[in-house]
Amino acid sequence: MTGELSPIDKAKFVAAKRSVDYVEDGMRVGLGTGSTAAWMVRCLGELVREDGLKIRGVPTSTRTAELAREVGIEVISLDEARWIDVTIDGADEFDGNLNLIKGGGGALLQEKIVATASDQMIVIADVGKEVEKLGAFPLPVEVIPFGWQTTKSLIEELLISMDVLGRDATLRMNGDSAFITDEGNYILDLHLGRIGNAHQLAMVLNQMPGVVENGLFIDICDVVILGYGDGRVETRDINEGTVEEDRLDFVETDNLFTDLQD
Ligand code: A5P
Repeated sequence: MTGELSPIDKAKFVAAKRSVDYVEDGMRVGLGTGSTAAWMVRCLGELVREDGLKIRGVPTSTRTAELAREVGIEVISLDEARWIDVTIDGADEFDGNLNLIKGGGGALLQEKIVATASDQMIVIADVGKEVEKLGAFPLPVEVIPFGWQTTKSLIEELLISMDVLGRDATLRMNGDSAFITDEGNYILDLHLGRIGNAHQLAMVLNQMPGVVENGLFIDICDVVILGYGDGRVETRDINEGTVEEDRLDFVETDNLFTDLQD
């Protein structure tokens, strides 16, 4: 079964598998969104079903909520949890300070609220997500539909005074229609190329009327677990200043590998 996995999927899987070691009985766990986070949800589900792990999951999107229920994880809302012990999520890019771009899957708003309400945020990623400077991945910005074209123009104008290479913003589409987030908003993807000052950009974007949230996660992530296609895993803890290396074996279980769709 694992022979069908690409090296990137193997990398995502081993990062996800290592991340569930951080989860203990009784925890409220923030469940991220995306293909890497989906592996983590499947791994947690296996621990719940087969080892009796007792956790409550706070999903960051409707699709993660569906998957979590499907694999046997008790799902609660953030309002029920109020606070979260650990959140595990993917990322589109991360830099040496563990600052992130997220929102490639369109769930950045709930992801940021949940990660910010967590004692610890762990990012799981394949090695291709590491960058020296954020910005090659288009920065997602969630905007309300009302007046979105005006908001887009104002953002492009604002970017003139920012330390970025590109300034084009595009409306994210889903086929012929605008992509709609779980909150009923639109996503503008900012094609910046390189972000010189991510802290500043994150702050000024959120001051723009019509902008709900941006995909820059600054000083939120505590640990990045980086997976490689050959099973190696590197765990970087920004608070402890540690880097640990390890190797995981692939264990073929039908429960985890039958559904490869996110
Ligand atoms: C979802 O909105 C995103 O923030 C994802 O966490 C991010 O796009 C990473 O997704 P993959 O794990 O699918 O690469």
